Amino acid sequence: MITNAVVPVAGLGTRLLPATKSQPKEMLPVGKRPVVQYVVEELARNGISRILLITGPGKTSIENHFDVDPVLIRHLRETNKEELLAELEFERADVRFFYTRQKMQRGLGDAVLHAEEFAGHEPFAVALGDSIIGRHAQSLALSHMKEVYLAQPCAAVVAFEEVAADQVQHYGIADPATPPGDGEAFMIRDLIEKPDPAEAPSRLAVAARYIFSERIFAALRETRPGKGGEIQLTDAIRLLIRGGERVLGVKLPPGERRYDIGNFESYFKAFLDFALFDPEYGPELREYARGLLGEGR
Ligand code: UTP
Repeated sequence: MITNAVVPVAGLGTRLLPATKSQPKEMLPVGKRPVVQYVVEELARNGISRILLITGPGKTSIENHFDVDPVLIRHLRETNKEELLAELEFERADVRFFYTRQKMQRGLGDAVLHAEEFAGHEPFAVALGDSIIGRHAQSLALSHMKEVYLAQPCAAVVAFEEVAADQVQHYGIADPATPPGDGEAFMIRDLIEKPDPAEAPSRLAVAARYIFSERIFAALRETRPGKGGEIQLTDAIRLLIRGGERVLGVKLPPGERRYDIGNFESYFKAFLDFALFDPEYGPELREYARGLLGEGR
């Protein structure tokens, strides 16, 4: 059973300035909810019951968001807004939260290294706090990754999304050693960070969800700072592979996407997508968008 997950939320989010000057990018709304709420809901849906958030300066609003807020609940009751209580149901999810702070923003790999005591000797999931999988946190991809991890000996299972050929230079790309069929796990020979489209070994981009054995921590400790002086998680995974460990990949199921909130282009797309398909506001918004686009022609 894999019930522990680590959610790094300590990054500075400089690509989203000025929006992230005094608020965490993980708290930006996508449709009705902040990004990190979708991440936590997805984890709970996939059998995770203990979540360690790796936080940093300016991130206390994330901790507050998951607290039960009796004052707000009383206010809603006293002002006859009981129907809004449903919006706070996520506070009661069957999840225990743990928090630790990354002392310096030395990269995603360094953030994950802060989870060593929390994880102990158990395998654990990592879910990036700035990426949603599938629309409205309904994805069961992580459950599939957990099954893959438990079914065959390996040091890591990594989620991948197939991206357009002209997008590969933005992501870590898999060099698969076995054919990456739909639903099947495949072996990874290497990971190439942001390759030139002409040299990319595939179009499979790392998609913000991982399962690791405790062996990732030794690899992280050996990993030297890479691009931007940061300890890269991808480099630690490559060290595992070079050390003879099996690392497996799993493609996101057809129709499921990774929504990356880390830059404005993909943040805007994610917001548009969630808002246009919101069960309550979507139909009216689609009508509005049609009118807007018609005017622009
Ligand atoms: P990014 O790689 O997008 O980095 O983080 P960033 O520093 O947040 O953003 P930019 O590049 O300045 O715009 C991916 C995930 O890893 C976390 C982030 O919070 C995000 O959820 N992260 C990143 C950390 O926890 N610590 C770090 O040092 C870096």
